[in-house]
Amino acid sequence: MKIFIDTANVEEIKKANEWGVIDGVTTNPSLVAKEGREFKELVREIVNIVDGHISVEAISTNAEGMVKEAVALSEWSQNIVVKIPMIPEGLRAVKILNAKSVKTNVTLVFSVNQALLAAKAGATYVSPFIGRLDDIGHEGMQIVRDMVEIFNTYNFKTEVIVASIRHPLHVIEAAKAGAHVATVPFKVIEKMFKHPLTDIGLERFLEDWEKIPK
Ligand code: E4P
Repeated sequence: MKIFIDTANVEEIKKANEWGVIDGVTTNPSLVAKEGREFKELVREIVNIVDGHISVEAISTNAEGMVKEAVALSEWSQNIVVKIPMIPEGLRAVKILNAKSVKTNVTLVFSVNQALLAAKAGATYVSPFIGRLDDIGHEGMQIVRDMVEIFNTYNFKTEVIVASIRHPLHVIEAAKAGAHVATVPFKVIEKMFKHPLTDIGLERFLEDWEKIPK
């Protein structure tokens, strides 16, 4: 499973990239707004840090507008993937963009049927938002299991990005479900490293090393 980092913060992206654990980046308008930076300059910087797919979101709500935006965004770098909202106009745009070889990530997916339609339209990725489903009392990960099974059964090329991840257990569940990608916030990646026995073990090894005559 690929791990993307779910942030628009350059420092976080640099750090995770140096750890050697990330394969791409996902952003959304809320994450970009938090940075308070000029959009194009920020995206250009991210593209230069990570050698992998970088999702940036189109904000038009009609197909013509989305296609225009997506074509322009994709010219910034061959690694740009354009996020398109899961609405009928969005899928109309995905179909056109697929024919133009512009990569898409259908976002705000909350059901298996939405994912199936996005795959039919030729999306490169679909992003089920599992944390937001958990927040309202639905088991988000179940839709991931179902869409992975369906995509595998019918050999859809569309990849599932598990999004809206809240904690390390979500990452494990995404991997067990056979998801192609988990997009993980920086704080959750940090938690994935942690185990108290690792810290205790390292401390003891270092102490014992001091006792060895050298
Ligand atoms: C990524 O593609 C999504 O936009 C992101 O994971 C949403 O996360 P949130 O539900 O924590 O805002």
